Amino acid sequence: MPDPFRHYEGVPVLDLPADPPSPEIPALELLQGGYGSTLAADGPTFLSQLLFYSAAISASKRVPSTGYKYALRVNPSSGNLHPTEFHFLTRGLKEWPDGLYHYRPSAHMAEQRAIGDMKLKLPGGSAPIVFVLTSIAWREAWKYRDRAYRYCLHDMGHAWQALALAARAIGCDSFAFGHFLDDQVAQSCRLHEDEWPMLIVELRGSSIPVREPCAREPLWYGGHANQLSKESIAYPLIGAIHSTSKLSNLASRGISPAEPAATSSGEIQLPPSALSRRSFGEVARMRRSALDFLSGTQSMSLTQLSAILAATIPLFAADFATARFIQLYLYAHRVDGLERGVYRFWPERAELQQIKSGDQRVAAAGLSLGQELAGNACVALSMIGDLARAVHAHGDRGYRYVHFEAGAIGHRLYLAGEALGLGATGIGAFYDDEVHHYLNLTSKQGRVVYHFAIGYPVPDSRVEA
Ligand SMILES: Cc1cc2nc3c(=O)[nH]c(=O)nc-3n(C[C@H](O)[C@H](O)[C@H](O)COP(=O)(O)O)c2cc1C
Repeated sequence: MPDPFRHYEGVPVLDLPADPPSPEIPALELLQGGYGSTLAADGPTFLSQLLFYSAAISASKRVPSTGYKYALRVNPSSGNLHPTEFHFLTRGLKEWPDGLYHYRPSAHMAEQRAIGDMKLKLPGGSAPIVFVLTSIAWREAWKYRDRAYRYCLHDMGHAWQALALAARAIGCDSFAFGHFLDDQVAQSCRLHEDEWPMLIVELRGSSIPVREPCAREPLWYGGHANQLSKESIAYPLIGAIHSTSKLSNLASRGISPAEPAATSSGEIQLPPSALSRRSFGEVARMRRSALDFLSGTQSMSLTQLSAILAATIPLFAADFATARFIQLYLYAHRVDGLERGVYRFWPERAELQQIKSGDQRVAAAGLSLGQELAGNACVALSMIGDLARAVHAHGDRGYRYVHFEAGAIGHRLYLAGEALGLGATGIGAFYDDEVHHYLNLTSKQGRVVYHFAIGYPVPDSRVEA
């Protein structure tokens, strides 16, 4: 197993203050479009708060047989392998030197890779904080082989949404760019060759504690990227799909809006959402993936389901997100007031359309590669991505965007579930063709890209806060 922590060694490492203020806005309010505010008066505290609630270590787990302890983070990751790295550029933050940094989650510190006015050619380059999120595919391929590319993209969607929500919880806007020249960004940030830039996220807003930027010439420390594994196995399909979805010339610089998704209606109008006052700070750090769910008689209420689905409705702030590509199909096992069956969710009018009736527990678990948690949950979901429309609008790059959106929706499902006292788990392992067959989907209607399960988690005594 490759090392889950990338370090750029031999560079100055800056402390991020411990125990930054917790964002108090209720998580559900934030997920439905609200804004929080921050008490952080200087750059280090602001960055600490932002990263503590989006990317830091939040718990650990001990393997009972060996005693081995491993870290869990605020952002989830398939197999806990964490292929996503957070780099960030700062300009004019109070009491923090302008420069380019890499976040070190293992110590909650920032590796200073360069200082000065970096003038990097990045979209969003004039914002006071710009993140460059990268993926190290080998970390994921080690376990998931060719399928790993998808997981990297899902994980990226989760990481982006974790960052965007933490930013919003402390009062600033974020905007993500997926459309950039890959090699130019990799070279500008002097990334190690195994790191692929996937998303660039700018942060703006009056809550960011700023001063005048410095005009100092850049000074590079660079750093030596640690070797994650003694040897690595090449997965040519992963390299090929990544190259195919890369942008490499100026002609492809612009991005055009995608056609809007088709809308329709269902016969079931969802009721107003259940309420929860649990703060974003608490929910973000307490979020965990359930290993399994209690399969008894306890159901979730329709108002809880309504709140969870409402969290997926707001459009994302990204250059590729002018239209949505993901549709949600639900396998309802135990929801009060909702007959067992499969439903399609129509977000525009918050309605459900029943497309199958009857007990779906065996089907949902079977389709999710036989994982019982998808049958034991109160509700399981298939995210169906309109790859054809995405590729029509964005070329092969569209493949990435559909999966980013799925990951981002997944992150919102995790947090909404946690806010309501439920648990959730992202499920990347499913039988693609069987799902299409079961839901009667032609390729024009979309392809399954991600599964999810939400319910009452079986307590996991191995987790330590
Ligand atoms: C994209 C993605 C796919 C996942 N697929 C599965 C899965 O198929 N089965 C499962 O039990 N857990 C799955 N998980 C949950 C991870 O195993 C979990 O996030 C990881 O162990 C870290 O634990 P945490 O979420 O509690 O931080 C997935 C998570 C993500 C983000």
